[in-house]
Amino acid sequence: MCDDCCICSDDWRYYLICFAAVSVLVLVAVLVAAYCFVRHPVFIVEEASLTRFSLSSPSSATALAYNLSLALTIHNPNWAMSIKNVKPMEAAYRFDDQQFDRVLIADKAASSVPMKTVVYRVVSGSDNAYASLGNAGVVEYGKERKKGTFQVDVVVTGQVSYTARYTKCKIEATCPLELQLAPPGQAPAAVAFQKVKCTLAKPKKYC
Ligand SMILES: *[C@@H]1O[C@H](CO)[C@@H](O)[C@H](O)[C@H]1NC(C)=O
Repeated sequence: MCDDCCICSDDWRYYLICFAAVSVLVLVAVLVAAYCFVRHPVFIVEEASLTRFSLSSPSSATALAYNLSLALTIHNPNWAMSIKNVKPMEAAYRFDDQQFDRVLIADKAASSVPMKTVVYRVVSGSDNAYASLGNAGVVEYGKERKKGTFQVDVVVTGQVSYTARYTKCKIEATCPLELQLAPPGQAPAAVAFQKVKCTLAKPKKYC
């Protein structure tokens, strides 16, 4: 199309029109690339340490005593769109599919800048966290204690919106952690932790 309009003419006005047309096309292409393709946030648990994980005393099938701290990074891979929380972002802690605690990661209205990574450090613990473990959960707890590593799932949930987009998208990222109990008095860093990339649940339509 450009060849037809530009090359065969000596009139400078055609060049100008052609230049304007190409500029508009480039601008449209850039806008489409920037705002039409959403890339969802990336969640990674960079560090985690468990310093206590026991059935609370007196030993019960419904209560856990634990101390867990983790560093969670949330990366916004978009180069033009910010990601804003329209609901608070929370992390649920689960053992053997039973939730035993829920912590706030970031408030509603917190937003993440394009191409940036934010680190959230979460320290939590309880002497008596309610978890409906039941007999099966207690058996599983016994097995994992013998093995020396506990499987704790961190499930991050929230709802976000993207710059220039109308839809609000639910986010659910599951981070399966393998946690070794750090011996009391020892630096948590003494226990190796391999960082875990969380799996994002398939987003809904238009997200
Ligand atoms: C573990 O959690 C308990 C209960 O929340 C808290 O009192 C205690 O200070 C925590 N211990 C450490 C080492 O963080």
